[in-house]
Amino acid sequence: MKAVAVFPGSREVKVIEQEDPRISQPDQVMLRILDIGICGTDKEICTFEYGTLPPGDDHLVIGHEALAEVVAAGSAVERFRVGDLVVPSVRRPCVHPGCLACRAGHQDYCYTGDFTERGIKEAHGYMAGSAVEQERHLNLVLPDLREIAVLTEPLTIAEKALGQITWMMQQRPPWLDPQTPGEERGRGLSALVLGIGPVGLLGAMVLASAGFTTYVYSRELPPSPRIDLVAAIGATYVSSQAATFTDLAGKIGNIDLVYEAVGHSHFALEALQVLGTNGIFVLTGVPGMQAFIEADPARLMRDMVLKNQVLLGTVNAGADAFASALRNLDAFRRRWPAENQVRRLLRWVAAGDERRHHGRPAGIKTVIAFDAP
Ligand code: BGC
Repeated sequence: MKAVAVFPGSREVKVIEQEDPRISQPDQVMLRILDIGICGTDKEICTFEYGTLPPGDDHLVIGHEALAEVVAAGSAVERFRVGDLVVPSVRRPCVHPGCLACRAGHQDYCYTGDFTERGIKEAHGYMAGSAVEQERHLNLVLPDLREIAVLTEPLTIAEKALGQITWMMQQRPPWLDPQTPGEERGRGLSALVLGIGPVGLLGAMVLASAGFTTYVYSRELPPSPRIDLVAAIGATYVSSQAATFTDLAGKIGNIDLVYEAVGHSHFALEALQVLGTNGIFVLTGVPGMQAFIEADPARLMRDMVLKNQVLLGTVNAGADAFASALRNLDAFRRRWPAENQVRRLLRWVAAGDERRHHGRPAGIKTVIAFDAP
């Protein structure tokens, strides 16, 4: 079968021919890959700035945002049948008996750093015709979500963040009542999303649908399909070319939550300075090397202490975040049905072909479709 791999030694990214994988353990599932999303991490891997080869290999098959169909299952597989649609998680646990996180199935919180990530760190990914995976790393997708389920993995970033924020919000002003339904968690609170790429837009969808008054801030100026999407989900877009962070704080009032989705350290640092009292700042971007800048850490520290602020970094996601992402994809589809706003995020490219897949409209996030005719 064909696969797409990076060869850091020779600085190449190419299509390779390799043997079809086989089920070798009873808990394994054979997958036919349907869609693969491309994100900033893939771009960094393909420019040899990120990613780690599997031990002993000279290449890494990329692709970690996958949607696949089950084509065969080992004898011990209980939850999946042939024909089921599934989305795999990315991270696999480390082997250390003392890693409480990995031993509890929460490898997204791995203590040792010896986890692997499919398509990113020491394990081949899914940009191939087929793949084999253990049942426990797969999440079942309803057939109705076939078109948009490739967005599950990037959506888990916001789901995991919101899960942690909710927990904090229950202990902090305005002392969210634990009985408050999920969809009203953010009522009366403001959220500022930094970045208008797919992670930012999915984050804005999660926050807007959780009731936050949501703003998205980025460089882009209208007209732009991304800005249209922000409006379509009931959020407000502000361009950094038209308003500074200080203007933004004046417009929003107390900024209760900042959701950073650009991976730009300078931008994040500036935003931290306008975080409101009792505010939570969530970092999701993984910045590459960036120029040093002067900062005033004393001012940041003073603000953080005197305003009870929280700075939270969050990476990857566990099974609970995948489950809520799949529930939310379905909810988003119903909540914003006009032209299916969620689908507008996707820009399809057929594998091995530059044609747009199935004549679908150009979107925002590139997805490689392996089942294109
Ligand atoms: C992936 C995560 C991964 C992170 C760091 C992101 O693009 O979505 O699953 O943990 O990169 O490698």
